[in-house]
Amino acid sequence: MSKLIPAAASLLATALLLSQTVPAPDPFLEKPYLQLGDAPKLSAAESLVLIWHTENVPEKWDVEVQTSKDSAWRNTGEVYSQVVSAPVGEPAIAGKNGAKKDAPASPAVEPHLVYRARLTNLVPGQEFHYRVLRAGKPVFDALAHARKSAGQPFRLALFGDCGQGTPSENAIAYQAYLAKPDFIFIPGDIVYGSGRISEYRTKFFPSYNTDEPSAADGAPLLRSVVFIGAPGNHDTDLANFRRFPDALAYFLYWDQPLNGPVAPSGAIKAAHELTGSVSAQPIFLDGAKQRYPRMANFSFDYGNSHWTVLDANTYMDWNNASLREWLTKDLAAAQSATWRFVAFHQPGFNSSKEHFTEQQMRPLSPIFEAGNVDIVFAGHVHNYQRSFPLTFVPANQPDGGPAGPKGEVAGAWTLDKTFGDGAKAKPHGVIYIVSGAGGAELYNPEQQTDPASWQPFTDKFISQVHSLSVIDVEGKTFRLKQVSETGQIVDSFRVSK
Ligand SMILES: [Fe+2]
Repeated sequence: MSKLIPAAASLLATALLLSQTVPAPDPFLEKPYLQLGDAPKLSAAESLVLIWHTENVPEKWDVEVQTSKDSAWRNTGEVYSQVVSAPVGEPAIAGKNGAKKDAPASPAVEPHLVYRARLTNLVPGQEFHYRVLRAGKPVFDALAHARKSAGQPFRLALFGDCGQGTPSENAIAYQAYLAKPDFIFIPGDIVYGSGRISEYRTKFFPSYNTDEPSAADGAPLLRSVVFIGAPGNHDTDLANFRRFPDALAYFLYWDQPLNGPVAPSGAIKAAHELTGSVSAQPIFLDGAKQRYPRMANFSFDYGNSHWTVLDANTYMDWNNASLREWLTKDLAAAQSATWRFVAFHQPGFNSSKEHFTEQQMRPLSPIFEAGNVDIVFAGHVHNYQRSFPLTFVPANQPDGGPAGPKGEVAGAWTLDKTFGDGAKAKPHGVIYIVSGAGGAELYNPEQQTDPASWQPFTDKFISQVHSLSVIDVEGKTFRLKQVSETGQIVDSFRVSK
């Protein structure tokens, strides 16, 4: 007996120790992350959407919020869930060169639950605390803040071409975290190489929703900072459900305004119709709901700025009169905003040899100019470029069409080379920014020190380091700092009104 007592005590001590040190199983496939939701306009009672993913085991979930005006935790109301799944892909059909002939079937994506909760009655610009409860027990909490009102200064971080699972992606995430932005904008190519559910799990969420910040592993951004994104070619241009049955995750996992145009027939080229597995298509459409395809184009207000987000992929025809009319009207309705920004993936003005002829967005320049757009942001080209303020008059090709056989657009630009600091900070024309050095392999590093290789419209060209744009908007002053993955400022400029 005297020998058993110490043994039992030892077991009890071990059990107690385990109960204290072994964490409960993670209830999430993906931890909670914030989205703007279908809320394009500022409101005195702001809202955000909180999303998280779990295994396909329905449970009771609740979300509670505490703001400065709440004396206690406040339940946000109904939590919505939907099952998202994708079947196993079928073997790819041989391509023209037969290279895809033996491509293996895609791995199965198990059906899983995507939960959405709307966080309501938030005070514009104010910090709030939220917590997620599973079966009545808090399992996750974070601090965040509501969208800023028109009278409040704001900061954003902007970088594209990021989710490739590289060390630089994590370093840029860490720099974004250090900047303490109000929101993060990704101008496309959110996740490589095909915008799939499986790729979000390995190359997006692990970098931007870590529990601890570090340059090596990423940062806890998604839970506290709203991400807003434009679709890139790697996100939404691959709609073949035979090869990629878990494709187009952009429409499943993001939640953004649905105030974009309903594209008429002809505005979206037939090449972009969903193809491949007929069993995968309805599963995708059921998961995407009204977000597909509408969420590829939208606009929203943040602080004293208006943002117009466009799908610049080649399946879109921005020479279509209906789409151009939507863009024109969207900008015309935003003239009371102090700033107008436009963002899309493929830049109209690019000096990099990579993607040089993909100039399909250039013909929209006169609409941007008439709509008093201040800055146009793009990605696609994996470096940083800043144009002189410019105006552009497109010209037709010899055959009368708007673009040449490789996508090149002719025309004449007028450059404002007097733009600079101080009294010269009032630009004549639109400034075009490429900020596509967010993590994927850099393009044309050799051109950084070869200005002769730049187009005449290019003022700055930084292609030897990954970087992000940190942007401050305060009243009539706009400041952009281009920050490298190690925190060095590689470009900066100011615009004043
Ligand atoms: Fe791209």
